[in-house]
Amino acid sequence: MCSLPPLLPLLLAWATVAGATDPTLPFMEYLDRDRLVCLKWGFDNLQGNITFQLVVNSTGWVGFGLSPNGGMKGSDIIIGGLGPSGSYFTDLHATGNSMPLVDDQQNYALLSMSETDGQTTMTFQRSIKACDDKDFHITAQPIKLIYAYGTTDEINYHGNRRGTKEVNLLNYMPRTIPTDSNYLIAKVDNFTVPSTLTYYHCKIMKFPKLNTKIHIYQIEPVIENHDLIHHMLLYKCPPDVTEPYENQCYVGDIGDNCFNPVASWGIGGGVFEFPENAGVPFGGEDNDPFYRLEIHYNNPEIKAGITDSSGLRLHYSAQLRQHDVGILTTGVLIRSNLPYNIPPKTSQFRTYGTCDTSQFSVHMNPVPDISVFAVLLHTHLAGRKVRVGHFRGGKQIDFLGLDENYNFELQQTVNLGNIKTIKPGDEIVVECTYNTTDRDGITKMDLATTDEMCVAFLFYYPANNVTYCGSRPNTTFLPTINVNDIASDEYETLLKNQPQFQVVIDYANRPSILKNVTLRQMMKTPTVACQKYNASSRLCASWIVNRAVMLLLFLWIAVV
Ligand SMILES: *[C@@H]1O[C@H](CO)[C@@H](O)[C@H](O)[C@H]1NC(C)=O
Ligand SMILES: *[C@@H]1O[C@H](CO)[C@@H](O)[C@H](O)[C@H]1NC(C)=O
Ligand SMILES: *[C@@H]1O[C@H](CO)[C@@H](O)[C@H](O)[C@H]1NC(C)=O
Ligand SMILES: *[C@@H]1O[C@H](CO)[C@@H](O)[C@H](O)[C@H]1NC(C)=O
Ligand SMILES: *[C@@H]1O[C@H](CO)[C@@H](O)[C@H](O)[C@H]1NC(C)=O
Ligand SMILES: *[C@@H]1O[C@H](CO)[C@@H](O)[C@H](O)[C@H]1NC(C)=O
Ligand SMILES: *[C@@H]1O[C@H](CO)[C@@H](O)[C@H](O)[C@H]1NC(C)=O
Ligand SMILES: *[C@@H]1O[C@H](CO)[C@@H](O)[C@H](O)[C@H]1NC(C)=O
Repeated sequence: MCSLPPLLPLLLAWATVAGATDPTLPFMEYLDRDRLVCLKWGFDNLQGNITFQLVVNSTGWVGFGLSPNGGMKGSDIIIGGLGPSGSYFTDLHATGNSMPLVDDQQNYALLSMSETDGQTTMTFQRSIKACDDKDFHITAQPIKLIYAYGTTDEINYHGNRRGTKEVNLLNYMPRTIPTDSNYLIAKVDNFTVPSTLTYYHCKIMKFPKLNTKIHIYQIEPVIENHDLIHHMLLYKCPPDVTEPYENQCYVGDIGDNCFNPVASWGIGGGVFEFPENAGVPFGGEDNDPFYRLEIHYNNPEIKAGITDSSGLRLHYSAQLRQHDVGILTTGVLIRSNLPYNIPPKTSQFRTYGTCDTSQFSVHMNPVPDISVFAVLLHTHLAGRKVRVGHFRGGKQIDFLGLDENYNFELQQTVNLGNIKTIKPGDEIVVECTYNTTDRDGITKMDLATTDEMCVAFLFYYPANNVTYCGSRPNTTFLPTINVNDIASDEYETLLKNQPQFQVVIDYANRPSILKNVTLRQMMKTPTVACQKYNASSRLCASWIVNRAVMLLLFLWIAVV
């Protein structure tokens, strides 16, 4: 897909792209205007490796780097190619406006190097964090990427074959503009923000009826008072919600059943864009569902009399994409009459919910694969960590979501670094860790903010019939326990070892139940081990001492 001519019609372009998507390298950006330098990348999780594939329309040497500011100082560079005596590949760094140096520690691994049809394809990997002080630490902020290349492996001045582009590698959003773009807007109208520090506003509303199906491809925040809006969430309501309302939410009431997220924005976040081959389906339905817009106002100066009309703009197109986006809600089941309580005065209490997808066959046949591309993790105020484990054949194979510093006030849909496929029969376990040291009574698992939730919303394609899959321990045979009489870790283990009562719900709100599901044991979060590679075996000694190379590197760095 890196060789697509630039002027193909958009529709054909995404179809081609979608067909060619490598699940481990889901992101792609041309670094130059002429589309001769294409970068694809993907990563496992924020503590792991990042893999790059640079495809350049040249059979000469290719160079790629990460620069803190687009300048030379501190940039982390690799140069490689396939020459007459095989492939060469080196990790370098620049300390200032002088010759970049070969890193003592080679922290990039070359995975493959090839040349076909006049293109060089170089695939390489490093850990996301910097392994030595010469490497660039990749964060979820936009990073200046630099590139240069030659027409031969004999390194000489690159002329204009170089450039820079700013890309957010860990939080990448593709930018597509369909020709027929339009939008729906979910917002409050002249709402008077109360003069209190924290206020949650809920508005249950409908959109204008759309007779034909469209795809939402981008969510844009529309913020009137930047100093007051903390986060916004838009949920789709089930058919039993039939009346609009506008009210304060989470005030200890039972809330409503609108828990199918469609869009989210959190402070510090920007526009969210769905993958190029998928969109959220809207319209063309018999019944027009209600939606709930939830806005968290944070008013530290306790300002009074401010009116607000903020919300979310949902950009859509009638040019349908290959897949409908679906959202699978997983985690701890609430409202099942089985008690699941978090004891007070504990700094670390974990709850678990599981989803054995073998039960999906009750709701659809055959059960399709589920390609997860993003996740939104959700607890209430006491939540500190959320981990989502992915199991196959009883063994954990991956994490579908991982947030070890969970912050209720920063709830955002985050793109995974690769497309993770849930196969029929796989299991998903959601673990939430709470801190209740400042609470005197037990905390229930339920809807109010003073209660707790433990949910992972998995954004995936293609949409299927199942919308919910969660569980809680069957405590029927557990003796009545006063949480004050048992150590919290013992209580946690006791609950964890009970058989799970699992509920699956489909789009028509039809439930099915599975009793006696076993909760799988989740692995420890892997820690990063920095990889070191043998520099001398990767270095093409003849070119690194070549004066032309030095000149080239100097020029390359000096111009970016
Ligand atoms: C990171 O990449 C290296 C080299 O390719 C590999 O040995 C290592 O297992 C990877 N680590 C993880 C966590 O995937
Ligand atoms: C780059 O090379 C590929 C493969 O040879 C070719 O299909 C493509 O048209 C080239 N791109 C440009 C912009 O020249
Ligand atoms: C909101 O207030 C503005 C300015 O006072 C007014 O023009 C607008 O009509 C109001 N909108 C609604 C929906 O009341
Ligand atoms: C738990 O919360 C208390 C009070 O907010 C805080 O002092 C403590 O550091 C927290 N402990 C952990 C392990 O998060
Ligand atoms: C979902 O259910 C409908 C109606 O029961 C059925 O026609 C359709 O094939 C199902 N979808 C999937 C993906 O199984
Ligand atoms: C709890 O387990 C018992 C024994 O297997 C079973 O009879 C009961 O129906 C279960 N309750 C729920 C809610 O799953
Ligand atoms: C529940 O499952 C476990 C493990 O599969 C099994 O040993 C036990 O007999 C089952 N209990 C019931 C009541 O079905
Ligand atoms: C690195 O490569 C050199 C030359 O091929 C070899 O002699 C040396 O043993 C290698 N070192 C390691 C740690 O593999």
